[in-house]
Amino acid sequence: MKNLKYYFQRAQEEKWAMPQFNFSDFSQVRGIVNKCAEMKSPVILGTSEGESKFFGLEEAVALRNVLRNKTGLPIFLNLDHGKSLDYVKKAIDAGYDMVHFDGSKLPLEENIKITKEVVKYAKWKNVLVEGEVGKIGTDSSRLYSEKFEIKEEDLTKPEEAFKFLKETKANLLAVSIGSFHGIEISGIDPNLRLDVLKAVKEKVGDAFLVLHGGSGTPEDDIKEAIKSGIVKININTELRMAFAGNLRRALSSTEEIVPYKFLQEAIKSVEKVVASKVKLFDSANKIY
Ligand code: 13P
Repeated sequence: MKNLKYYFQRAQEEKWAMPQFNFSDFSQVRGIVNKCAEMKSPVILGTSEGESKFFGLEEAVALRNVLRNKTGLPIFLNLDHGKSLDYVKKAIDAGYDMVHFDGSKLPLEENIKITKEVVKYAKWKNVLVEGEVGKIGTDSSRLYSEKFEIKEEDLTKPEEAFKFLKETKANLLAVSIGSFHGIEISGIDPNLRLDVLKAVKEKVGDAFLVLHGGSGTPEDDIKEAIKSGIVKININTELRMAFAGNLRRALSSTEEIVPYKFLQEAIKSVEKVVASKVKLFDSANKIY
């Protein structure tokens, strides 16, 4: 199987994006992997600290291994928004393929210092590191009833992105370009700041850039962002909404008590979201 760097490189050259789908339960993984296998899309399974504490780091790695062997699909695991060096090290030791250290709320120098430590630790285990510069707000557990306004000062500054990558040697950089975790109640979030993305890209050259907060982002903006250098897009809220909404309906409308029966529709709803994102990111038929 080709490694993760190979897929980012290809995505950059061919202008498509690797999907990262977050999970905290095996049924979600079933939906994600079923659909990616059918569409022949490489895939990154993401777990935040909270998701991985619920699921278990070792359990996630064991599941990735089993599913890789069973499907032959390039399935990778990423620790999403690791907040401390200690926890990131635990994910690396457990066998994750990549880790995201999110020091974006720290002063830049402190963010650089810790990310450098992460890179040093990850390197000898061949684990890729994603860093973050600029603040990407909110979380993936909410629907926002009011317009989400991103502050100009929270957007990624090209100079800072350049300095960060040069000093840390992180493999990927998450950028703040107007997206946020969660989704507006309308289902469509405000437009991305593609001008900011283009300015960052111009400054950082070939570095791999990541879009967080992919749920609800206008589709044309996603396509433009991929053309402008985004190689990985994270999706969580839309998957959670589909899964939870379906499960809630299934449980309230039936007396069924058998999980493998009442979970079927929720798994299918995850497959539907995954199919639409794989199509949008153009990652189908890229497993060779
Ligand atoms: P959404 O919840 O908006 O899809 O964002 C997910 C994400 O960026 C995880 O890091």
